Amino acid sequence: MAMSQAAYAAEKAIGHDDNAVTSQDITNPALDRERYGDSSVKMKALAWMGKNTVKVVECPKPKVVEEKDVILKVTGSTVCGSDLHLLHGVVVQLQKGDILGHEFCGVVDDVGSGVTNVKKGDRVVASFQIACGNCYFCKQKLSSQCEKTNSNTIENAMYGGRTAGMFGYSHFTGGFAGGQAEYVRVPYGDVNLLKLPDDVPDEKGLYLSDVLATSWNAVVDTGVNEGDVVAIWGAGPIGQMCVDFAFVQGAKRVIVIDSNWRLDYIKEKYPKAETLDYSKLPRGESVTSKLKEMVDGRGPDVAIECVAGEYAKGWAHYFEILLGFETDTSEIVNEMITSVRNFGRCGITGVYVGFTNHFNIGSLMERGIRLIGNGQAPVHLYWENLLKMIQEGKIDPLKMVSHRVRIDDLEKVYEKFEKKEDGMQKVYVETKFSAPPCTGSPGLTTY
Ligand SMILES: NC(=O)c1ccc[n+]([C@@H]2O[C@H](COP(=O)([O-])OP(=O)(O)OC[C@H]3O[C@@H](n4cnc5c(N)ncnc54)[C@H](O)[C@@H]3O)[C@@H](O)[C@H]2O)c1
Ligand SMILES: [Zn+2]
Ligand SMILES: [Zn+2]
Repeated sequence: MAMSQAAYAAEKAIGHDDNAVTSQDITNPALDRERYGDSSVKMKALAWMGKNTVKVVECPKPKVVEEKDVILKVTGSTVCGSDLHLLHGVVVQLQKGDILGHEFCGVVDDVGSGVTNVKKGDRVVASFQIACGNCYFCKQKLSSQCEKTNSNTIENAMYGGRTAGMFGYSHFTGGFAGGQAEYVRVPYGDVNLLKLPDDVPDEKGLYLSDVLATSWNAVVDTGVNEGDVVAIWGAGPIGQMCVDFAFVQGAKRVIVIDSNWRLDYIKEKYPKAETLDYSKLPRGESVTSKLKEMVDGRGPDVAIECVAGEYAKGWAHYFEILLGFETDTSEIVNEMITSVRNFGRCGITGVYVGFTNHFNIGSLMERGIRLIGNGQAPVHLYWENLLKMIQEGKIDPLKMVSHRVRIDDLEKVYEKFEKKEDGMQKVYVETKFSAPPCTGSPGLTTY
């Protein structure tokens, strides 16, 4: 049994906690066709089938299970860097057949008897996290840390606290079917859905689910101030929107670090941004030495991690991860710590799962570096304001969107997104319920 499934077997043996106010482990309506599904309607969905394998499957449409549920007809979803951690089995406790996808928008198709804020026909976007709306954290809109939607015992023991439940993000975060599907069940629909106004098309509203809120959180939570020099590791969609938001917050210079064509993509969208391709550094140069050279010999004020702990750079960490001596590499975090100026700030938004070796605690302590875990981003804290920014034209999520694809082609899209092929930055995944592409949206690519 692979690691991911073994971890779930352990969870089942220990048993869940009793804190959750919504059912756990409904990761596919086919798990109980009578209780969770409407077998008269079939739908397509993208399911995890084992390490490095996903598949478009057919299963029953989900139905209302609890009174606060909303069933959405999905009109748009996407693939995220986080889905790659699931694909690779790095985020544990996935089971064969679990439906993935934590970023989606759609039209309300059915509501439970306890739902009051949305009604059939409303066009909405969901947050990637499932919040109850009423606990200690939800009252402060810190929705990603809701205490009542995830009862996973191993996560609690390992982290000393839990995150909220999340769509399509393994049993480790509650076990909820995701939205890379034609329909999806949204628990606590009143809390976890935001209505999209007529002037915001799905192709822009969708990204309020995650990317926009996550990048905004990375920038404001780490703390970008007027005149700062900001370095961003990772030129994927999250890193790209961090560039946008760092400039919005008054950064003087933004430097993006990666090793592929994505740097050119960013440069094209933000000519003011500078880039550093670490694969092209001459012998003897490092990201840190280059950043010192680029920024007054001292280094940037702020560093933001938009990569993830699973991507080791050198052989040492590659083997340590492979052999199970650590779950995450410390290379990028160390680079950030040594690169920023003394008393600089480093924020981690890329996903880290567990433990790391060779962490440069000395530099952190001696030079007064502020290392900030940005957390799974609390979408509810920001999404109304970000929606307003889209309406006012202050941000344009379509800058990230390189492809429009069909749900039928998702297996291929995962492969391309993982290998960074075809210039794929962020996709918009349409279903048979989607409207025609809005102005500015890329045309349909089929695989
Ligand atoms: N905290 C949150 O709430 C949250 C939400 C969404 C996504 N995330 C995470 O943010 C991260 C980025 O997401 P994404 O969708 O942009 O992912 P992505 O996989 O598309 O992009 C990651 C980029 O990092 C680059 N990279 C790899 N190794 C690097 C290194 N050593 N130095 C610099 N760059 C390197 C890759 O080439 C790639 O372009 C992922 O880990 C994702 O899971 C976090
Ligand atoms: Zn995501
Ligand atoms: Zn809550």
